[in-house]
This record gives sequence, C-alpha cells and structure tokens, in this order.
Amino acid sequence: MAQAALIDPSHPPEQSTAPRPAAVEIAGVTKTFQRRTGGTHLALAPIDLAVADGEFVSILGPSGCGKSTLLYIVGGFVPPSTGAVTVGGRPVTGPGPDRGPVFQEFALFPWKTVLGNVAYGPRQAGASKADAETKARGLLARVGLSAYETFYPKELSGGMKQRVAIARTLAYDPAILLMDEPFGALDAHTRLKLQNDLLALWERDRKTVLFVTHAVDEAVYLSDRIVVMSRQPGRIKEIVPVDLPRPRHRDELLLDARYQRYVIDIERLIEDPPEEAGA
Ligand SMILES: Nc1ncnc2c1ncn2[C@@H]1O[C@H](COP(=O)(O)OP(=O)(O)OP(=O)(O)O)[C@@H](O)[C@H]1O
Ligand SMILES: [Mg+2]
Repeated sequence: MAQAALIDPSHPPEQSTAPRPAAVEIAGVTKTFQRRTGGTHLALAPIDLAVADGEFVSILGPSGCGKSTLLYIVGGFVPPSTGAVTVGGRPVTGPGPDRGPVFQEFALFPWKTVLGNVAYGPRQAGASKADAETKARGLLARVGLSAYETFYPKELSGGMKQRVAIARTLAYDPAILLMDEPFGALDAHTRLKLQNDLLALWERDRKTVLFVTHAVDEAVYLSDRIVVMSRQPGRIKEIVPVDLPRPRHRDELLLDARYQRYVIDIERLIEDPPEEAGA
C-alpha cells in the first residue's frame, strides 16, 4: 500500500510538506483546431497542471472550454499543438494501459456479455480466460453487478452500463483514471450511488483521478482539488484545493457550512459568456 501513504486524509494535498511524485504533468499544452470553414480555433491556451500520484482532481468549466480536449490529450488520443504531457515522468505519445479512459463515447462491446466486456482487458494483456474472468468477477462484485454477468449491454440500464464501463476500465488496473462526465447522463439516485462507489474505490486504491464534470456539488464532494476553467480560449482560471476531511459522507457535508461555501464560491467562478461561432 505504498500509494495509500502518499495522501494523508487528514491533510489537504496543498498543505503536505512531503514531496509527492507528480503522476501527471501538463506543461504548456495548447490545442489549435483547424476550422472546416477555414481559419483556426485556439481551444486550449497554455495549460500547466501537475496532478500528484493518488490525487483526485476535478475539472469544471463552461461548455466548450476544452475539458474533454484536455482529457483526450492526457489520454494520448489527441496530440497537443504545443507543450507536453508526462505520466510518471514519461512523455505521452499515445494511449497506454497506465491511463484508463471512462468516456461516454467509448461504448461497451454489444456482442459481449457483461463478464466478457470486463474480462476483455485482462485477456488482451495476456491473462488466461479463467484468470481474466476471476478478475472480472471481482470487479463486478465491487460495482454491485455480480448478478448481471451473463447480461448483454442492451439488457442493462444506463447506470448499470456506466458501472460496467468503470469495471472494464478498472480491469486494466490503470494508475490513472480519466473520467469525462461519467455520471452526466444518469438519474440523481444512480448518480449518488456511483459517486459513493467511486469514492470507496478511490479510498481503497488511491488511483490518480482526472474527473470532468458540470456538477459543482459532485466535484466538491469527490475532489482534492478543483480546476476551474474558462473559455475563449480555454484556460485555467483558478485551482481550488478542497480542504474537507475524508472519508466524506454526503449527508454530513450537505449540512456543513464549509462545503456549502465551496459550492457557492465555485459556482460564482464558472462564468459562461455566450460563445461566438468561429471564435
Ligand atoms: N475535433 C475538433 N475539431 C475542431 N474543433 C474541436 C474539436 N474538438 C473540440 N473542438 C472545439 O474545441 C473547443 C473545446 O471543446 P471540448 O469538447 O474540449 O469542450 P468541453 O469543455 O469538453 O465542453 P462540454 O462541457 O460541452 O463537453 C470547442 O470550441 C470545440 O468546438
Ligand atoms: Mg466535454
């Protein structure tokens, strides 16, 4: 459990004096897209961000500020126009098993069962069928879907599919989870349940998490730090350390004036100027 010791839950990460290895280092990253109609669009102004090993960082900001683009760049799915990303000190040149994406557009394999979907990663990594399925069953138990291993994705609810997608990514055992609005399309009840599941998993494994969301309360509940972005061009407006003790319990937090203060202050930080097409 060397990783778990990197974060002392009684101290916010910003106040820790111990050097913590940066799991993700984003240095001078910009992204310029070519407009189909001609011209260019600066989606990301230089972004500099160091995320420590085992840290839970959320990214918030108005639609179009470049949150997904930044996550794709860290994932190695999109190259930056300038600047560089390193993960564990190694430059990112493409996707890798150290970074597990949970993106809505990465659908489950419809022709595979729930078990088959989750066992796919370990199988690809060379595990025997039996070992891969044992691992997949363990993960399905953790996301509460043991009873559904023989189901196909089309037989599942949206929340269940999202849980399978999380288990499928965890099956690679990535050091870093890249989550782009993973709970955005879910009903409030399922969303709360999955937030709690994710927090429990994170408190156990202490993976580094980069978590994009539009929900301020969700970000405050989950995160060590919140990166607030603004747009035109997309850039970091402010980074807010969330100094709330862990483990966190939502019921208690809702009554906690400090939690309420974070939510109000961060909502105010997220300005949403009207987007100019072609800007
Ligand atoms: N492949 C692309 N080609 C051209 N422009 C793009 C491309 N991908 C993103 N953009 C532009 O880059 C900007 C940032 O997009 P991005 O999807 O990263 O925003 P976002 O913050 O994730 O927004 P949302 O909250 O709506 O998901 C937008 O102006 C978008 O039009
Ligand atoms: Mg997005």
